Amino acid sequence: QITRHYKFNIQLQNVTRLCHTKTIPTVNGQFPGPKIVAREGDNVVIKVVNHIQNNMSIHWHGIRQLQTGWADGPAYVTQCPIQTGQSYVYNFTITGQRGTLFWHAHISWLRSTIYGPIIILPPLGVPYPFPKPHKEIPIIFGEWFKADTEAIINQALQTGGGPNVSEAYTINGLPGPTYNCSAKETFKLSVKPGKTYLLRLINAALNDELFFSIANHSLTVVDADAVYVKPFETDTLLITPGQTTNVLLKTKPEYPNAAFLMAARPYATGQGTFDNTTTTGFLKYKHPHSALGVSKNKLVSLFKPTLPALNDTAFAANFSRKFRSLANAQFPANVPLRVDKQFFFTIGLGTHPCPKNQTCQGPNNGTKFSASINNVSFVQPTTALLQAHFTGQSLGVYTTDFPGEPAIPFNYTGTPPNNTMVSNGTKVVVLPFNASVEVVLQDTSILGAESHPLHLHGFNFFVVGQGFGNFDPKKDPLKFNLVDPVERNTVGVPSGGWLAMRFRADNPGVWFMHCHLEVHTSWGLKMAWLVLDGELPNQKLPPPPSDLPKC
Ligand code: C2O
Repeated sequence: QITRHYKFNIQLQNVTRLCHTKTIPTVNGQFPGPKIVAREGDNVVIKVVNHIQNNMSIHWHGIRQLQTGWADGPAYVTQCPIQTGQSYVYNFTITGQRGTLFWHAHISWLRSTIYGPIIILPPLGVPYPFPKPHKEIPIIFGEWFKADTEAIINQALQTGGGPNVSEAYTINGLPGPTYNCSAKETFKLSVKPGKTYLLRLINAALNDELFFSIANHSLTVVDADAVYVKPFETDTLLITPGQTTNVLLKTKPEYPNAAFLMAARPYATGQGTFDNTTTTGFLKYKHPHSALGVSKNKLVSLFKPTLPALNDTAFAANFSRKFRSLANAQFPANVPLRVDKQFFFTIGLGTHPCPKNQTCQGPNNGTKFSASINNVSFVQPTTALLQAHFTGQSLGVYTTDFPGEPAIPFNYTGTPPNNTMVSNGTKVVVLPFNASVEVVLQDTSILGAESHPLHLHGFNFFVVGQGFGNFDPKKDPLKFNLVDPVERNTVGVPSGGWLAMRFRADNPGVWFMHCHLEVHTSWGLKMAWLVLDGELPNQKLPPPPSDLPKC
């Protein structure tokens, strides 16, 4: 087994975007951060040293972390944060995953600048189940905020209102020429004709699902969240924060007399606090004899892609239904066929009454925004849940009474239901080792239906069903796909609809599940599963590493 060593120095760096220089937290001074490259089966060891004033923790988003729950990273869930001047070594093995994932800060809103790709290659000598690409290119989407994101979210939580939106979306950290004063900061992908490129798409944006397209080129989806899928062709992709998608791009057989734009902009439902703009980059056929990438003396035309409308929920639903597992002999889909534990979770935005000493900007004349699962808005503890569990000192840290269904039965009638019964708590669901779990997630937002990209730590889950309106517990399960459902770690719960997922609780530890829209996480749309140890030695959570940070 090969071990890959990395060192991540968390340090400040001056970065200029949109004619404005800002000092941002980075890894090793890079923005976006460095790539981690490993093969399936490798051991990865990353020493993170925190040189900045903020507390820090890094999450390896989508990595299964089998029996390495201490290396998962969400602050106050699996670890206390790494304090200024301290370090922590994350150590994990990549098991049964191949494709693209990413890493990001998992504390407050620091992931706005602290993120980078994780590239997982197949084991040495094992080919891809698709033609070998000429080149592989990570494309990571993000958001650029002019102001300090820590100030933005702190202010929003104090006033009980919504936070400011970002100034730009970015491709590999670059906003592109549609934004003022940004022409020089444009991502350019140089290609040759007649070749196949593997684009590793990652949505690391804080608060928006994104449509993505390249003018006059179709893309073939081959992998999602580091699991191969049945290939399908599409002109446009939808990718939610937390999702990764590998696509093949076949270039034109000859040098075209044109340049092509690639573009990404939000899919925005619900309240629509989004930045109504588009990030763009160039796909350039780099002709060896011409600076422009086209033969000389010819007119260069520029093609632009068309993207779906901002609220095109039909496109979103159809697109997500196209994803299917390979489900073949080499890559079987191990879908749990029988269910031991069943849950019905309503998820959505709600409101709290405004606390006495605050002014609140939420709806209904000054309430405080909140977000909840089964009417429970998760309160972040001041010590890590996993430590409290491991040492048997859960008293005062968390309770095990997270409800399996909502307090008031939910009925989605089309008029926004009033989610005012939100209570606060740090509650977990306890699962026996290896239980097979089914969760139906029902969207209920009061501010108009809204799509929520739900992310589960520590597991992949199978998406066995989805639909609009109310989930029908009698009829809908009859239509579940138990043959080749897609296996992923993040999925958009349809706006105004429901989604059913299954997973096997084969990984002991405490595992976070939350909306990957950072503002919804901040408002409390999160919970945790506590998976108990199994009987056998290889089914137990090992003791924590000696350098595990203290709170
Ligand atoms: Cu990518 Cu809990 O996060």
